[in-house]
Amino acid sequence: MSDAPLVLPTLSGRHVQLRAWRDTDVALVQEASHDALIPLVTTVPRTSDEGAALAFIRRQHQRLESGAGYAFAIADLDDCTVGHIGLFPVGSTRASIGYWIGASQRRRGYAADALATLTSWASTLERLDRLELYVEPTNEGSCRVAESAGYQREGLLKAWQRIDGRPRDMFMYAQLTAHARAGAGRS
Ligand SMILES: CC(C)(COP(=O)(O)OP(=O)(O)OC[C@H]1O[C@@H](n2cnc3c(N)ncnc32)[C@H](O)[C@@H]1OP(=O)(O)O)[C@@H](O)C(=O)NCCC(=O)NCCS
Repeated sequence: MSDAPLVLPTLSGRHVQLRAWRDTDVALVQEASHDALIPLVTTVPRTSDEGAALAFIRRQHQRLESGAGYAFAIADLDDCTVGHIGLFPVGSTRASIGYWIGASQRRRGYAADALATLTSWASTLERLDRLELYVEPTNEGSCRVAESAGYQREGLLKAWQRIDGRPRDMFMYAQLTAHARAGAGRS
């Protein structure tokens, strides 16, 4: 994915739009900085300092510019930002997806719609064969989000990632892209 400049599309779902981060979205990053999990597993700062939150937004733009991946703000139908979702290459034919929703905006179907929307677009990228999510077994909400978007739980990765200094197991969820599904089984 890193051999061509990336262009961030705007993607429309049923309840959300995925678009570029803007400086005016800073309050959501500040809210996320107080979350128990988000700053531990993302680059959201642990402080609600405005400059640190704006730097987070700048980093999302840089991911695209450097070819590191696609980072989207998740906005509701009034264009208010409610969360974040990103698609990042792992090797040349796989990509992993990560997401979070601000605590005040949860349980409204935003994560499920954002993941379904991003997956549907990413499934059309011919250079990708496989989309992956890593989810802690205790993260029931994220497991449901993954399953609602058609991801299959393939197994448990023991001590896959250290979070807050402790090794954590992760479920590997995955689905094949349209391109890989079409080619699967051909000799
Ligand atoms: C996990 C998270 C993304 C869910 O976002 P959300 O917008 O609240 O999820 P949705 O409203 O789209 O819910 C999708 C489904 O999960 C269920 N769900 C959501 N949160 C849940 C929770 N804490 N416990 C149990 N079920 C939950 C919903 O009821 C819904 O179920 P349904 O399919 O039966 O309708 C959000 O809680 C979050 O950002 N958490 C912190 C960061 C994080 O965990 N990111 C994912 C890392 S893998």
